[in-house]
Amino acid sequence: MDYVQMVKESVDFLKNRVRSNPKVAIVLGSGLSVIKESLTDQIKIKYSEIPHFPVSTAPGHAGELIFGKWKGIDTVLMNGRFHFYEGYSMKEVTMAIRVFQMMGIKYLFLTNAAGGLNHTFEPGHPMIITDHINFMGDNPLIGKNIDEWGVRFPDMSEAYNSKLISMAEEAAKELIIPYYKGVYVAVSGPSFETPAELRMFRFLGADAVGMSTVPEVIVANHGGIKVLAISAITDRAIPEGLKPLTAQEVLEVANRTGIQIAKIFEAVIENLGEELK
Ligand code: HPA
Repeated sequence: MDYVQMVKESVDFLKNRVRSNPKVAIVLGSGLSVIKESLTDQIKIKYSEIPHFPVSTAPGHAGELIFGKWKGIDTVLMNGRFHFYEGYSMKEVTMAIRVFQMMGIKYLFLTNAAGGLNHTFEPGHPMIITDHINFMGDNPLIGKNIDEWGVRFPDMSEAYNSKLISMAEEAAKELIIPYYKGVYVAVSGPSFETPAELRMFRFLGADAVGMSTVPEVIVANHGGIKVLAISAITDRAIPEGLKPLTAQEVLEVANRTGIQIAKIFEAVIENLGEELK
C-alpha cells in the first residue's frame, strides 16, 4: 500500500476514535514522559491499535498517542517516538507527523534528551533549539514529493519558529527556569559519539547532540506546521575528559528536566490561547 493511503487510513481511524480537534501536537523524548501528566481528559490509543503505525522500542518510550486538554486546549501527545536507530525508515520515523498534518495540527512541540557540546552547559537544564544540523545521513523527504503535503524544496530558513522561541524564552524567564538556546546536531546513533566526533560537532557550530527530532522538524516544515523544540541537556558531551555515558543516566536527568520543559510548554500554550480554540 502506498504511504499516502496508509497515512489517510491512520487519520480516519483516529478521527473515528476521538472527537477532539487538536491544533497542538507534542512529541515526548527519552525520559520525558512526565510531561504527559499535564494533560487532562486523557484518551490513550496504543500505536499497535492504529493501522500502519510503527511501534516504538526505545527505552523510556511508551508507544501511545494521548488525546487530552492542556490548559483547556485540545492537544495530542506522542508518548514515545520512533528513532532512525531502531531500524525504521525516515518515512516511518515521521509518519505520525504526517498524520498530525492531515488532522489539522498547526503547532508541533518536540522534546529530546541531548548531550551538551557547549562548555557552558550544565546537565539538567532545558535548551531551546534555534536551529539544527542534519548529520543523520538521510532525509525524510527523499523520494517522490507528495505535492498535496508540501513543496519539493521546502524552505528551512526558520525551521524553528522565531515567535514560539520568543514565547518560550519569556515563559522561562517568568518562571525563573534557567535555560539555554542553541543549535542541535542530529546523529543516527545508537552509539554515543567519540571524543573526535564531539570535537567536530563543536567545530561545526552545534551546542547539543542527539539522535532524534530533526526528521520530524523537516517534515513539519514541509507540511507548514510551526515548530518549537526543547532539549533536555542530560550530559556533558565535552571531548576533553569525556566520561563513559549510559542510557540510564540520560533517562534520569531527562526526567528531572522534563518538569521544567512542561512548565514552559504550558505557558506557551496558554499564551497562544485564542489562536488554538
Ligand atoms: N549524544 C547523543 N545523544 C544523546 C546524548 C549524547 O551525549 N545524550 C542524550 N542523548
